[in-house]
Amino acid sequence: MARKKLAVLISGRGSNLQSLLDAAAAKDFPAEIALVISNKPDAGGLARAEKAGVPQLTINHRDFGKGPAARAAFDGALSDALAKADVDFICLAGFMRILTEEFVERWRGKLINIHPSLLPSFKGLDVHERMIEAGVKIAGCTVHFVTAEMDAGPIIGQAAVPVMPGDDADTLAARILTEEHRLYPACVKLLAEGKARLTAKGVVEFDSDVGAGAPLLNPAP
Ligand code: GAR
Repeated sequence: MARKKLAVLISGRGSNLQSLLDAAAAKDFPAEIALVISNKPDAGGLARAEKAGVPQLTINHRDFGKGPAARAAFDGALSDALAKADVDFICLAGFMRILTEEFVERWRGKLINIHPSLLPSFKGLDVHERMIEAGVKIAGCTVHFVTAEMDAGPIIGQAAVPVMPGDDADTLAARILTEEHRLYPACVKLLAEGKARLTAKGVVEFDSDVGAGAPLLNPAP
């Protein structure tokens, strides 16, 4: 079967992009990275794409100005680039822009995100600080389909990590990030193989032969 084409959208260092590039380097991985787009010209992840020989594009949101019309124009430019590259899935990987409802609807069922908490807890920003402050004992990360409401879309997979005594936001972020790098490729694999999908009702459906351990890491049942 032909490999599915992925776009990865980044704003920063791109370690999750790297995990997807590394996974896609294996011939039996069911997807390839066809395009990397950054909204920031200085995103460290762009160098990772270049090193891997993957086409990359910067669409600088600042070039579009401010306000709703600018936001719509930026998302329109993104959509045009994604349509031109004919991608099957779009992975947000540390892409720190809120997308318009129109964009999210256009790419419904194809647009996924990774977030460094066990959603629906700790949506939004400064997640690690807030988890330490709240004193949670189990943290983790989530891969989910993107819907218009931020960090609220149907969940594809999660991985959990313990919060250890003495942790600060940085040590916790590092522990979660290690799991992010396992979880994102695992979830992309399920989608690219067609074993998981977003239904018309807006829930994630898995084929019956998908074991519970595929989308759930640490603890695997
Ligand atoms: C990751 O921890 C990712 O989960 C988070 O940004 C980081 C990007 O790191 N994303 C969000 O917080 C989205 N709301 P990376 O650039 O090294 O992949």
